[in-house]
Amino acid sequence: MDQKAKLEYDDMSYEMPIVEGTYAERAIDIRTLRKDTGLITLDSGYMNTGATESEITFINGEEGILLYRGYPIEQLAEQSTFVETSYLLIYGELPNETQLEEFSTMLTYHSMLHEDMRHLFDGFPSAAHPMAILSSMVSALSAYYPDSLEPDTHNQQHIARLLSKLRTIAAFSYQKKQGRPVQYPRNELDYCGNFLHMMFSHPAEPLYEPDPEMVRALNVLLILHADHEQNCSTSTVRLVGSSQANLYAAISAGISALWGPLHGGANQAVIDMLREIRDEGGDPKTFMQQVKSRERRLMGFGHRVYKNFDPRAMILKKYADRLLSHLHINDELFDIARQLEDVALSDDYFIERKLYPNVDFYSGIIYRAMGIPTEMFTVLFAMGRIPGWIAHWKEMMDDPNVRIGRPRQIYTGATRREYVPVTDR
Ligand code: CMC
Repeated sequence: MDQKAKLEYDDMSYEMPIVEGTYAERAIDIRTLRKDTGLITLDSGYMNTGATESEITFINGEEGILLYRGYPIEQLAEQSTFVETSYLLIYGELPNETQLEEFSTMLTYHSMLHEDMRHLFDGFPSAAHPMAILSSMVSALSAYYPDSLEPDTHNQQHIARLLSKLRTIAAFSYQKKQGRPVQYPRNELDYCGNFLHMMFSHPAEPLYEPDPEMVRALNVLLILHADHEQNCSTSTVRLVGSSQANLYAAISAGISALWGPLHGGANQAVIDMLREIRDEGGDPKTFMQQVKSRERRLMGFGHRVYKNFDPRAMILKKYADRLLSHLHINDELFDIARQLEDVALSDDYFIERKLYPNVDFYSGIIYRAMGIPTEMFTVLFAMGRIPGWIAHWKEMMDDPNVRIGRPRQIYTGATRREYVPVTDR
């Protein structure tokens, strides 16, 4: 594109190229700004900073559009599986039948943990948050598979191992917390069915058969979480990966970034909030008044990018309805959630600030219906986000022009001063 942006500064004029994306999103290319002008840009929270060009995911926050490799999220949620969507995100195209078969077989083949690694679970206290276990165990994968220390995007084993074992680690951390023996994967089950088996099988009970409706709902949940372009955790994975740290180290850092309540931890925070409202008498209007007077925050609402609706939340609301009625569950928290949404959608405070339910608002309701405890919600988010993190890591590592991520700053501290020994201060 020939258009340029002009910067007038210090009696000089500088021209910077405009870069245009597939859907005409535009950016000022400032790659030579500091060299040409001595200036840097200041953009806390990176609200206006494009960290990279990417072919993976497109979001239009105004119109509520989310595409993975060009495919609308609604179509993938309705028709694809998590394994197929993972392949699409990581390798750029939908797999043909043979490719899908081979990929699924690799995931099955890599589902077991090294027995020594299984013993690591015994070292964690029973009160440990499963996200602490998850990030530690993923980092530990690099200790058990030293061939992964050298980042290699063409090594399918590193990728399949991570996708498959993360699910096993997640389920094991839950079983350990229950004080129960871990359940080994069963090769005849698919990705999501196997996870439900490892979570809920009990050695004293008949063989666990995953409910197809639960398997479908889990597939949808994981697909909806699979990527969301340059969010906090994905940016973390890219930044850590840019130092040439190994894949497992980079993903472990992403898991830690996801843990926070303003990011993936919001799904747990939503259920905690709904419980508080219920325990305080269940009046959403009073709660919303407190949100407006900034005493409380409405978790599961608002988004940095979506400003009219989050397409993922709309799909999840439908699936929450579907699963609750299939399982004959009457969840009072779901009723409170619906009332909160009704208040928010008709109140100027929320309308003016464009605050709509995000993906975390209804996901917790579905996890609850499946019997997944609150502490595991963010772990499920991480399980879903794995293919997106891998896809971004791979895209970055395959880019010959990539350089180590290293933002600058404007220093506002003290000017140079003399050191004084502690006895003279
Ligand atoms: N409850 C009440 N007020 C809010 C909320 C909320 N959840 N979110 C934003 N606002 C208000 C905020 O106080 C501000 O008001 P004012 O202009 O009067 O000061 C205005 O809306 C703009 O908010 P912001 O904080 O500038 O928005 P942001 O883009 O920096 O933050 C957010 C985005 C997601 C961190 C924020 O909306 C939030 O804290 N939401 C609750 C946590 C949550 O649900 N997080 C999950 C996000 S989706 C999953 C993921 O991708 O991680």
